[in-house]
Amino acid sequence: MRVTLSSEEETIALGERLGRRLEAGALVLLRGELGAGKTTLARGLARGAGYKGRVSSPTFALAHVYRGTRLTVHHLDLYRVAKGADSELGLDELLADPRAAVVVEWPDAAGGAWPKDRLEVSLSHVPGGRRVVTKATGPRARKVLESGRA
Ligand SMILES: Nc1ncnc2c1ncn2[C@@H]1O[C@H](COP(=O)(O)OP(=O)(O)OP(=O)(O)O)[C@@H](O)[C@H]1O
Ligand SMILES: [Mg+2]
Repeated sequence: MRVTLSSEEETIALGERLGRRLEAGALVLLRGELGAGKTTLARGLARGAGYKGRVSSPTFALAHVYRGTRLTVHHLDLYRVAKGADSELGLDELLADPRAAVVVEWPDAAGGAWPKDRLEVSLSHVPGGRRVVTKATGPRARKVLESGRA
């Protein structure tokens, strides 16, 4: 999917639409330069999972957990994490949580290998807003992109 979103609200709405289709075990990698809208999209994803509370950037906390009515979402920001540090972060445990989905900003910072089935979202600045390109690399991720009643 390739779309251009012209406001923060549109980014949240796309996240919410995708978030409604997220299932436990799903992994979403959010890529894009500083300020590209990754946390904004994560806010929508959490809403789609039925989470009503606040979603802030986990840059300092590293990880937040949102317990939605439908699904729990772990939201990570690896911006400040050194390469090779993934094994110390408990990422494997989060990814193995059978009741949760995992959303990661700056997924390449830790230098580890992610599970093969994931939804990759790239955001970039364009005049008038943000460009969003999505790619599913496995069946679980493809389900999130399937159009439905979302
Ligand atoms: N489609 C859009 N059009 C214009 N502005 C947007 C859009 N989506 C998000 N923004 C704005 O971009 C700014 C940065 O968003 P956000 O914090 O989500 O980026 P980020 O990629 O998480 O940044 P960081 O790399 O610092 O984590 C916010 O002010 C947000 O409102
Ligand atoms: Mg962010």
